[in-house]
Order: sequence, then structure tokens, then C-alpha cells
Amino acid sequence: MKWVQIVFSPTGGTQKVADILTKSLTNTYTTVDLSDRTDDFSQYRFDADDLCLVAVPSFGGRVPGIAMERIKKITGGNARAILVVVYGNRAYEDTLLELKNGLKGSGFRCVAAVTAIAEHSIFHQFATGRPDARDKEKLISLAGQIHDSLTLGAVSDDVLVPGNAKYKEFKGSSLAPKADDRCNGCGLCAQKCPVGAIPADDPSKIDADRCIGCMRCIALCPQEARHVNKMLLVAGAQKLKKACAARKHNDIFI
Ligand SMILES: Cc1cc2nc3c(=O)[nH]c(=O)nc-3n(C[C@H](O)[C@H](O)[C@H](O)COP(=O)(O)O)c2cc1C
Ligand code: SF4
Ligand code: SF4
Repeated sequence: MKWVQIVFSPTGGTQKVADILTKSLTNTYTTVDLSDRTDDFSQYRFDADDLCLVAVPSFGGRVPGIAMERIKKITGGNARAILVVVYGNRAYEDTLLELKNGLKGSGFRCVAAVTAIAEHSIFHQFATGRPDARDKEKLISLAGQIHDSLTLGAVSDDVLVPGNAKYKEFKGSSLAPKADDRCNGCGLCAQKCPVGAIPADDPSKIDADRCIGCMRCIALCPQEARHVNKMLLVAGAQKLKKACAARKHNDIFI
């Protein structure tokens, strides 16, 4: 039996949640990085003994399209999957159901699911600093519940999760981050962009049509040279203010 984390985490919030849960469940695991566009995901094949924790962020209430595409290339082989959806304190709508359906399609048994909050990767004023100490405590206790259910064999192969069969429409983000004159052309953002939207030969540029607005290039730029248009940020934050105001909680489905 092997434990594997399968994670799409452009700016690290989803990874933090996945690490808290995984480390509460096992001492030994490997990680498949769904943001690595150079990896061949069809090489990952599991079998019925394996346990995979699959974690994605919610983008517009959906699984990020590129993460779903890559998950579909993996062979589940009847392995058990623990589903994790991380969101920025607004809502995750159909993300969990879409993740479950995608994993079932790849041959996984979906035995449990967790939803968790992390700092909003576009609007950092929402869920700032989360997952925090309270979240960590709660996530460890949720992992304990999953551990106990797995040990007792008291899990379904097809866990019930919320979501609409007709998924919420998400047309993608229009927030392609541009580089300013602090960019020294180091190329890190081009190397790490999950979809290759930044040309390696001129990383100060961006292919806005290809960009999924994941904000990784902003988060990792050592020069703090990449930014989203400030006016769009202010307008977007204003729209989300009410929906993000109350502290949302981490949750379990088992
Ligand atoms: C394009 C995009 C869309 C997002 N849509 C939502 C959303 O619908 N609801 C929500 O609560 N948070 C949303 N967020 C916030 C992320 O789900 C949250 O910050 C998550 O932790 C990001 O994962 P990461 O840190 O692993 O990149 C969105 C973030 C991005 C970049
Ligand atoms: S990481 Fe920053 S400095 Fe380096 S190429 Fe990208 S924008 Fe320029
Ligand atoms: S260019 Fe777009 S897709 Fe690539 S890292 Fe930046 S925000 Fe993400």
C-alpha cells in the first residue's frame, strides 16, 4: 500500500492544507504535482491498496480546468481517494462534485472529502493567513475521523458530496498579471507557470489567452515585478466583500 498526495496548488494554500491532512494520516508519502506542466501524468497508475489524497483549489466554484485535464490522465486502478477542495472563504459550489466525478472517471473510489479555507490568492484581504492555528487543529481532527473510518472499513466507495450536476459556469479569469520594469528576466515565472503562458525567451510578456489567472507568477517573483491591474482588483474585491465577510469553516464528508 502506498500513500500519495496529488496536488494542484499554484500559490501554496492548497498544499498547506494537503500537508496538514496527509501528515496526520501517514508518515510516508510521495507527491504528484499537478502544476508541473513538464510531467507525464499518464505514468501514474495506482491499485486497490493505494490511498491518494487529491487536493485542488476552487476557481469560480469549479476545479481548475488544467488540474482536471491532468487528473483524467491518471489511472486510479480502484485506489481509494480522499478529496480535498480549498477555497478563499467565498464558496466552492460545484468543485467537490466535479472533482469526485473526475476521479471516479479515472477509476478511483472516493471514500471521503474535506473542504477547507486558505487565504484568497487574488484578494489577499479575504481569509488572510489561513489556514491558521484554529484551522490546523480542526483539520487534524478531521484527519482523525478519516483515519478511524478507514481503519474500521466504515467508508463508502462513493461518498456523497454537495454540488449541482449541471456545474456552475466559470469562463476563466481575466486577471493576467503583467510585469513591470523591476523584472530582470530571471525566467522563474516562465519555468513555473502551470500552463506555459509566460514565454521563456521574454518573461516580461504574457499570453493572456492561455493564462488561467492562478497568481503563481506574482507569488514567486523575487523582484515583486508582476501585478494584476489595480482597478480590476479593487472592483473585484468590492463585489466579493459581502460573500467573504463571515469566517467559513472546514468541513468533512464521509
Ligand atoms: C482564478 C481564481 C478563482 C478563484 N475562485 C474562487 C471561488 O470561486 N471561491 C473562493 O472561495 N475562492 C476562490 N479563489 C481563491 C482560491 O480558491 C484560494 O485562494 C485557494 O487557496 C488558492 O489555492 P492555492 O493557494 O493552492 O493556489 C479563486 C482564486 C483564483 C486564482
Ligand atoms: S520571476 Fe519576476 S523577475 Fe523573474 S522573469 Fe518573472 S517577472 Fe521577471
Ligand atoms: S501567467 Fe497566468 S497561469 Fe501563468 S503563473 Fe501567472 S497567473 Fe498563473
